[in-house]
Amino acid sequence: MATKILMVCLGNICRSPLAEGILQSKLPKDKFHVDSAGTGGWHADELPDSRSMKIASKYGIDISNQRARQFQVQDFHTFDYIYVMDQSNYQNVLQLAPNEIVKSKVKLILDEITPNKKAEVPDPYFGGEDGFEHVFQLLDEVCEQIAKRLIK
Ligand code: 4NP
Repeated sequence: MATKILMVCLGNICRSPLAEGILQSKLPKDKFHVDSAGTGGWHADELPDSRSMKIASKYGIDISNQRARQFQVQDFHTFDYIYVMDQSNYQNVLQLAPNEIVKSKVKLILDEITPNKKAEVPDPYFGGEDGFEHVFQLLDEVCEQIAKRLIK
């Protein structure tokens, strides 16, 4: 059965769609399923932010097939790993956890490269295109590390 990884941010239109597309591009499709969701539901069914689609496409990744959705309690059972972008996502997801066991699936994504630093992938939504380049580079680095660990 495929290993399932869920990327979570607030709106599921900027950061987590990029994380989904980047990690997917580094893993064999037959063995891994990567998805993303937002803790908020305001953007449900929307395309990723045009700036996320643009930066992904600059690096050869097409995320235009994605549509936003809200994180749901069932995701704790469906997914093996749940990566959140920042502390507020972390708190929002943990609040929904039905038991302690599933809480251990939830990790701050940048802990994979800088453990215990509580580093966050900054929300680029209200900023300019530079922010999206920065987010892409951060996610590319951490997804490379996650993919290496998952494949070995
Ligand atoms: P994301 O960015 O969490 O990376 O998708 C945001 C997108 C939308 C909003 C906030 C953050 N919003 O407030 O609508």
